[in-house]
Amino acid sequence: MIDFHSHILPRIDDGSKSSDMSLEMLRISYEQGIRMMAATPHFYITSDTAQKFCDRRAGSYEALSKRIAESGESLPDIILGAEVYYFRGISKYDGLDKLKISGTDHILLEMPFERWSEKTLNEVAAIKEETGLTPIMAHLDRYIDFQKGTDNIERLISMEVPIQLNAECFESFFTRGRAIKMINNGLVSALGSDCHNTDKRRPNLGPCIAYITKKCGAEAVENIMDRSRKLLGL
Ligand SMILES: [Fe+2]
Repeated sequence: MIDFHSHILPRIDDGSKSSDMSLEMLRISYEQGIRMMAATPHFYITSDTAQKFCDRRAGSYEALSKRIAESGESLPDIILGAEVYYFRGISKYDGLDKLKISGTDHILLEMPFERWSEKTLNEVAAIKEETGLTPIMAHLDRYIDFQKGTDNIERLISMEVPIQLNAECFESFFTRGRAIKMINNGLVSALGSDCHNTDKRRPNLGPCIAYITKKCGAEAVENIMDRSRKLLGL
């Protein structure tokens, strides 16, 4: 199983606070059947450049890799990426290429938590059409309520951008119905824990996968994982 969205790297964003915490998050994930995790620290253009971000991420990854090697435990593999927060002009940003999920032409894109304007949707389309990169919608489930009364979600789906859902949306009675519907319609390409720590935002993809298996069958989960593997070029 692949966790496509996590803040597993230590001391780089509001996620893991230490290599020890990262190691514990990896252990919890492994126990839940996760064998691969995309490390996707937050990237904000207002406070960073792609190069500075990559340098910091390399340092964080190196520290964690050392700790993992010392532990000798069986833990999920880590793939480096970023959770890139949308900004006006993102499709023209010359650093975007550096923010790709390693070994792919995809970026995990976090959209604004507000009702999206025409310009915002056009900018997403421009990333796909003009940069050679494909944006993957990070936790689409978290934006849906903001788009009420619009056809923004349908428009995004019609752009054929891959969709990632967060495990948490399967935990609530109010959000899991529509998430299951999206899975049954073949619209989901990736699942993520979006884990930040070992406490309130701990790795939780295992129970989510069990729930989807119960509701949609094991094949539905396998189909999502197949799409995830394809996105990662595996
Ligand atoms: Fe996140």
